[in-house]
Amino acid sequence: MDLQSIKNRFNIIGNSPELNYALQVAVQVANTDLTVLIIGDSGVGKEAFSSIIHSLSSRKHNPFIAVNCGAIPEGTIDSELFGHEKGSFTGAVDARKGYFETVNGGTIFLDEIGEMPLGTQARLLRVLEAGEYIRVGSSKVQKTDVRVIAATNKDLLKLVEQNKFREDLYYRLSTVPIRVPSLSGRREDIVLLFRKFAADFADKYKTQSVQLDEDAKNLLLEYPWPGNIRELKNIAEQISVLSENKQISAKALGRYLQPYSNNRLPAVSTAQHQNEFQNEREILYKLFFDMKKDVNELKRMFLEVLQNPSVAAQNPSLINELKDLSNGHDSGYLPAPAATYQPVQLSMPPSSAPVIVDNSIDEHEEVDESLNIMEKEKELIIKALKKHKGKRKDASLDLGISERTLYRKLKEYDIEEL
Ligand SMILES: Nc1ncnc2c1ncn2[C@@H]1O[C@H](COP(=O)(O)OP(=O)(O)OP(=O)(O)O)[C@@H](O)[C@H]1O
Ligand SMILES: [Mg+2]
Repeated sequence: MDLQSIKNRFNIIGNSPELNYALQVAVQVANTDLTVLIIGDSGVGKEAFSSIIHSLSSRKHNPFIAVNCGAIPEGTIDSELFGHEKGSFTGAVDARKGYFETVNGGTIFLDEIGEMPLGTQARLLRVLEAGEYIRVGSSKVQKTDVRVIAATNKDLLKLVEQNKFREDLYYRLSTVPIRVPSLSGRREDIVLLFRKFAADFADKYKTQSVQLDEDAKNLLLEYPWPGNIRELKNIAEQISVLSENKQISAKALGRYLQPYSNNRLPAVSTAQHQNEFQNEREILYKLFFDMKKDVNELKRMFLEVLQNPSVAAQNPSLINELKDLSNGHDSGYLPAPAATYQPVQLSMPPSSAPVIVDNSIDEHEEVDESLNIMEKEKELIIKALKKHKGKRKDASLDLGISERTLYRKLKEYDIEEL
């Protein structure tokens, strides 16, 4: 299969020799069972490499799973990967298969491998060396045939020096290293990528695609791109949505880029930047994008509680959650809260009960009640985990929140072992 058709199939844009080489190596090793370590800065596009390798391997019809080692709490990662026996820890009401069991015959992508706890690293090494693992709380050795692809944006050798990463595992994992180049090392791809993203976002937002003039292109090429392709994509999205003028000048583009020390970047002072950004509509758009996800999660949580009338009756404190929302928690963009609380208009689905904001709540009640809603949330999370036998993916679906948010909340509420 030639590189261009692989790029088309996996939506990879770019033609720099470094990218082509990385892809070439991925294609060459795909059909072996060798362990692959994908290395590259944050946002360079490491994820696609794991699916390319799996899809071009003889395991392509078998399962593939991506596990983000950085998102799983330390206390549960062993059980998640290798399974556990019933009663092996508090809350282990049933035995559970781990991914190395369920994905037998397939491929596991261990993303952010640098975040893997040392104990788990020892277990992983055993799988890689002997194809063996033991469920948590068991003494029975089991066999598995799983191909491992790992990725990291950390310098693993540095972690080895700091005793945070096992040296033997490092060498075992990097049988075949694939280095995905940073955007600053493949300048020839920058404009191509921008053009592709601009076209995609024009499609998504049903508007005309933005076009860069020559100076804007030069600015794009000079910018250091610390966030790599992810940053370029974000900027393309912001410009596609916010810019009324579809012809983008260097000055207009400069407003979206982070200030950096290269003198060739047109000076955009912070004060000027802020002034120009005071346009109300732009602020609203920005606010909207940043808050949309959090608000949706909160809405789903409210609806869940509201759907249970007895819970709703006992919980006038839902109002406080609304207050929190309007006070801009978790958002860097909301304006400072007004001295007097103004109820916010949330676009709740039509089926939801109206929420009446009672301004007469005194401060003492507010504190108590906001603790109640946290309790309620904790209760719901535990309930969902029990219902789904500790399967966090299913529990998060049921709760209407993302798996990552669930992980965060498990940490926050100290619910580690269910
Ligand atoms: N060559 C490419 N062509 C088109 N889009 C790309 C390319 N490389 C990356 N992207 C896009 O850039 C974004 C970031 O890529 P990805 O999530 O793979 O980064 P990463 O290397 O895994 O970063 P991190 O280490 O932070 O997880 C994704 O939206 C991805 O689709
Ligand atoms: Mg990634």
